[in-house]
Amino acid sequence: MIEPVTVHVPLGARAYDVRIGVGLIDRAGTEIAPLLRRPRVAIVTDETVAALHLPRLQASLSAAGIASEAMSLPAGEATKTWPHLIATVEWLLEHKIERRDVVLALGGGVIGDLVGFAAAILRRGVRFVQLPTSLLAQVDSSVGGKTGINAPQGKNLIGAFHQPSLVLADIAVLETLDRRDFLAGYGEVAKYGFLGDAAFFGWLEQNADRLRDDPVLRQRAVAHSVGMKAGIVTRDETEQGERALLNLGHTFGHALEAATGYSGRLLHGEGVAIGCALAFDLSARMGLCSQESPSRVLAHLRRLGLPASLADIPGDLPDDAALIALMGQDKKVMDGRLRFVLARGIGEAFVCDDVPTEVLAAVLQDARAG
Ligand code: GLY
Repeated sequence: MIEPVTVHVPLGARAYDVRIGVGLIDRAGTEIAPLLRRPRVAIVTDETVAALHLPRLQASLSAAGIASEAMSLPAGEATKTWPHLIATVEWLLEHKIERRDVVLALGGGVIGDLVGFAAAILRRGVRFVQLPTSLLAQVDSSVGGKTGINAPQGKNLIGAFHQPSLVLADIAVLETLDRRDFLAGYGEVAKYGFLGDAAFFGWLEQNADRLRDDPVLRQRAVAHSVGMKAGIVTRDETEQGERALLNLGHTFGHALEAATGYSGRLLHGEGVAIGCALAFDLSARMGLCSQESPSRVLAHLRRLGLPASLADIPGDLPDDAALIALMGQDKKVMDGRLRFVLARGIGEAFVCDDVPTEVLAAVLQDARAG
């Protein structure tokens, strides 16, 4: 029996718990009941997750005396757009979800972000609970209150900060993920070590290849990642400073996702993994860290089977100028200047707005070669 671990996010009136454990979907009814003013919730999920986990969630709610209605959206990044947001909000209104009700987001990062945003704008804000079903969502997107959708101009450009009231991360559901999705989510786990915890990265170097099969190690990795994120979000909820460090690898990653059309060619976590490798390479070329750091990052990602370079992305990519232009849509851009999360070593990330274009171009050129 693995007892759930609770990470508290102490944000005053917006404080909440992240519960991490095995079988939390089956216990969701009793976990959620204390939040409810009437025994009724709306669930928004995607078609893939619905087939795997929705009946269990609804059975658990029903056993706790909670009625539920569910809406399933198509699975995939293309759902994080205006038409699906409109459909979700209108469905919630049609089902008379009131100001004091709670909406459940059952799914990966796409569902969590979209449903969180729908909850933020529905009747000027209703509460929501995240039930993240991907590794990426459990360690990153379900915690911290960033919600939103993509725009043709770039990823996550439309949204709001809206904290969930509870996060239930059932680490047993990660066993239903295919290897590629699990690994892509792992890119975000490794990111925590890269950005702020060299000891955690050392632990991952020893244990990462056992996370998929060992629930105790998996719970530890998820709880440690969530603990780090909770600390950063508590100190900087609206990303005035430190929270930007969570975007390590994302300036490159988001540009690569845009360049590949948010398609199956490159998953978000894969873009982050490549982005982390490139950010460390850039840091070493700028003389900010020794060559040992990018070599360790690259070796770790490659050993696990994650893409770590532009050459690992199937198909053609736009030229360097076009990739750099895509980076210009990054939310960290300030006064028109690109800002990168770079590192002085593993676990020592910082924000830098002074990256010479020729060094950036050299990083991209070499990454195309492999
Ligand atoms: N995923 C980055 C953040 O939550 O700030």
